[in-house]
Amino acid sequence: MGASYGRLSGEAELARAQAILDWSFGGRLTWSAAHWLDAMGHDTVRALRDDAGRVQAVLCLLPMGQWLGGRRVATGGLAGVGTAAEARGSGASSALLRDTLRELRADGVPLSTLYPASFTLYRRAGFEVAGSMYHYGVAARDIDVRDRELAVRPVEDGDWDAIVALSREVARGEMGNLDRGPQLWDRVRSRRGVPTTGFVVTDGGTLEGYVFLLQQAAAAPGRPYDLELTDVQARSARGWRRILTLLRDHGSLGAQIRWHGGPADPVVTLLAEEVCSVQLSTPWMLRLVDVDRALAARGYRAGARGELAMEVADEVLPENAGRRVLSVSDGVASVRPGGAGALRLDVRALAQLYTGYASAAALARVGRLDGTPEALATADALFSGPHPWMSDMF
Ligand SMILES: CC(C)(COP(=O)(O)OP(=O)(O)OC[C@H]1O[C@@H](n2cnc3c(N)ncnc32)[C@H](O)[C@@H]1OP(=O)(O)O)[C@@H](O)C(=O)NCCC(=O)NCCS
Repeated sequence: MGASYGRLSGEAELARAQAILDWSFGGRLTWSAAHWLDAMGHDTVRALRDDAGRVQAVLCLLPMGQWLGGRRVATGGLAGVGTAAEARGSGASSALLRDTLRELRADGVPLSTLYPASFTLYRRAGFEVAGSMYHYGVAARDIDVRDRELAVRPVEDGDWDAIVALSREVARGEMGNLDRGPQLWDRVRSRRGVPTTGFVVTDGGTLEGYVFLLQQAAAAPGRPYDLELTDVQARSARGWRRILTLLRDHGSLGAQIRWHGGPADPVVTLLAEEVCSVQLSTPWMLRLVDVDRALAARGYRAGARGELAMEVADEVLPENAGRRVLSVSDGVASVRPGGAGALRLDVRALAQLYTGYASAAALARVGRLDGTPEALATADALFSGPHPWMSDMF
């Protein structure tokens, strides 16, 4: 009997998956894998069994979308990759990743996205760093905004459709933001079983903004708590100012506020002075599971037009390898096989080009691709754009 891949089958395999994840992520100290797997959904777990049929490596496959050039591209989010300690170093996770990628490809999902603990493991599977998530912080009392024009109230069940719609409306216009699946919306509403506290800002009946707050142990002594924003969004400056005022109203006890965002965060833009701290946080990686579908599925800048003949190498998914011509006209692309292969690169370099994380010129300078000057210029004209980022950790 050879190694096998698939969903968990039965209570014994579920217990084995929980034990692997507890040991892999320290779940006995913090948030147990049993709770975490309940939150992800047991049907999201994929397992690799050894020759004897014993589960040795697991991950969760989360269906979601990623906004790229104004279009939603389906992606399989990977989380909780873990191998039993005694089975590590023998290629179990690598085999599990390859089988998961094949499943995604067979289902027509063109991308896969993850936050890496090790670049090497995921690079071997064809993933590459293709975007960033930034950590921000500000002391609530340093927020110099006082604007109570719009109403604020605690979130109610009836607000959810409008909240999701506002989140999507903003995310669609950003490069790399996620179209959250149910698991990521749950992470907005609660963390490790603790519900967050949500507020909405309204103008008459219209949702202008929302924020979800989680009280956490203060990072420094002397204050009762800090606040993490599990999500914050507004559609107008008035909405943002009302949210900033609400956050400032938590300043009397010295709360520090933390949140995740992109390189040009609205809070930083709206504050008068340089009071926010910012750091580039864990980068995320992308895998083009189906190169042709991925190229055709994303949007391109309005007015972008051109043909790019590329030759792609992909050792893990050889179906992706070979020559094709990307043809872009007025923001929409089509792909056909063949062409002269004027731009030569592997699937990892293509992931960086694809999201606009790195330009073709920059990739050529570090030996990650090569091509004719015309091909490089066309690639940059088609792919370059705002820096790809996301605020969700998974
Ligand atoms: C990371 C992990 C999933 C790898 O599983 P595995 O089945 O041993 O992986 P493989 O045998 O397929 O590949 C091993 C590769 O993992 C990476 N890796 C393993 N341990 C590592 C470490 N301490 N530091 C950096 N990379 C490491 C290396 O790239 C290694 O390849 P190498 O031995 O040639 O250098 C496993 O060590 C684990 O469960 N760790 C704890 C949980 C974790 O970190 N998960 C990843 C979350 S994104």
